[in-house]
Amino acid sequence: MMDEPTPKELFLKSTERCLANEAFIPAFYDRFINTSDEIRRKFRFTDFEKQNKMLRRSLELCAGATTGEADSLAEMNMRAKTHDRDHLNIAPRLYDLWFESIITTASEFDDQWDDKIEAAWRRILGHVVQHMIRKY
Ligand code: HEM
Repeated sequence: MMDEPTPKELFLKSTERCLANEAFIPAFYDRFINTSDEIRRKFRFTDFEKQNKMLRRSLELCAGATTGEADSLAEMNMRAKTHDRDHLNIAPRLYDLWFESIITTASEFDDQWDDKIEAAWRRILGHVVQHMIRKY
């Protein structure tokens, strides 16, 4: 019998399918930026070409951090610091918007999207978001 894929595997495969479409990340930022003026202001000086590459890496990082990979955890702590109240000052409530924007966008781009895949995204990104919020 084949083993059931783990949430990490489901998440990574789904991310790969999403990222295979170049429109995925721009579609996410479009949605995210338009959820509030506050978010739009935060990104007013942002070079989206760079930001797009960074989101791809961040998603892989999220999967690694969830299963306790040392490099991923270390980098997540760095991200938590750049986003905390003394730096980018990303208030905890903004993470909810980030979370819902990325999951909605993924559901539109992953042609194999189902409840299990959605649960995997929620679980993995939920952990990361909780971590970022705790360190705010
Ligand atoms: C778990 C969620 C998130 C991850 C993994 C993440 C990751 C990153 C990374 C890797 C960078 C670039 C390096 C750095 O400055 O640290 C960055 C920059 C940034 N992030 Fe996030 N981020 C997250 C959530 C958010 C949220 C909710 C906001 C809300 C507005 C946000 C706003 C920004 C801004 C404004 C920058 C700087 C962009 C610039 O260079 O102009 N991030 N993020």
